[in-house]
Amino acid sequence: MHQEKRFGVEGIAVSIPKHFIDLGTLAEATGVDPAKYYRGLGGRRMAVVTPIEDPVTMAVEATRTLIDRYDVDPSGIGMLIVGSESGVDAAKPIASYVHGMLGLAPHCRTFDTQHACYGATAALQMARDWTSRQVGEGKKAIVVATDIARYEVGSAGEPTQGAGAVALLVGNRPDVLVIENHDDAVYTADVMDFWRPHYSSTAMVDGHYSLECYLKALENTYLTHRAASGLGWDDYRHLLFHVPFPKMAFKAFRQLHEIESKERNGDFGPLEEQFDRMTAPALWANIEVGNVYSASLYLSFAGLLEKSGHDLEGARLGFFSYGSGCCAEFFSGTVGTDASAWQGRIGVAEALAGRIELDYDQYLELRKETEAISRDGSYRERPASNGEHVWFCGVQGHQRIYARAM
Ligand code: COA
Repeated sequence: MHQEKRFGVEGIAVSIPKHFIDLGTLAEATGVDPAKYYRGLGGRRMAVVTPIEDPVTMAVEATRTLIDRYDVDPSGIGMLIVGSESGVDAAKPIASYVHGMLGLAPHCRTFDTQHACYGATAALQMARDWTSRQVGEGKKAIVVATDIARYEVGSAGEPTQGAGAVALLVGNRPDVLVIENHDDAVYTADVMDFWRPHYSSTAMVDGHYSLECYLKALENTYLTHRAASGLGWDDYRHLLFHVPFPKMAFKAFRQLHEIESKERNGDFGPLEEQFDRMTAPALWANIEVGNVYSASLYLSFAGLLEKSGHDLEGARLGFFSYGSGCCAEFFSGTVGTDASAWQGRIGVAEALAGRIELDYDQYLELRKETEAISRDGSYRERPASNGEHVWFCGVQGHQRIYARAM
């Protein structure tokens, strides 16, 4: 009997910076009611990078964890795509640095994809399509989402910062997630809701408008996907959304709930109860880390997998990815039927353990130092890497220098 070929995610790993600031600390220092950030935005803490961390080091850490924990043969990686909107160079991709520092084979396509927070989803779909043509050779792809969400001090976006990376192994043995119904439920509109000019290290956002754009794209892609795939609300165990701040996932869920409820003439389960069951379990890591732009959706997925363990085996999930500008996509997937494929390998709780809390002045100081180290002439000799980490050492002769991990 003909068996349908399956492609998708074989492994998932994360990297999260070791420092954080509590949103209550930020609120109190800036004269804001902490309840606005805790309840109004739904966040708790946000990761803060130190000057020796950047999108490259986080991508390297996540990818190395992926390779180690899933026994990946580096010579079998034929494609490495980094989805990011925090590019460190206008020409050289982050993927080149990752490829070099991890010693991947030369016969490997490397490039970055950029479309705000959608970049990694574009990369994942491209990698999935590519692996579906590689069955004979058995080549695999790695997709890495790595980002630092940074807004101006004192801006409305400041409490929605964060940083981190998620690496995904993509291939034809998708023990973690079979990506199904590749129906291209995508939506693009040329909107100015969020952007970062080349001369700026911080993003600019028309915040409330961006939420409108997000919800419009969600409705459009959800309905397109539902019509094309025949999959509806009741088919999903969980619905995962792009999470610029955790409350946004609730707004997104509410939007879909309203659509379904209207179609069923209100004869539909209560909003809060359904949200608590279908989406809230996927938010705990985002609540701790903050916005990770292109990695947010995949951090949510990693958190859900890690917390749910066996309960998630065989579950169908719906994913909504949104990148400002904008491009969005709704897709679905089925989790593998054996949790041992991912249990103990993702490392979200491990990365969050022993984090160092910053006070407001330390947070401001780190921001200043992080800006300064990206300028030419900032290179400083640092202790040699102990093999566990890779450090950004600064810029010399207009080149970024890293203490290599290998
Ligand atoms: N206690 C509890 N809740 C409070 C509160 C308080 N004291 N004060 C305000 N709130 C609630 C508000 O009611 C609102 O909740 P709601 O949206 O459910 O109504 C929420 O906190 C935010 O308040 P708001 O006044 O809208 O905040 P803001 O104008 O300062 O900005 C964002 C909010 C989200 C627009 C802003 O943080 C932002 O721009 N973030 C980035 C958005 C982004 O990443 N977009 C990219 C594409 S997705």
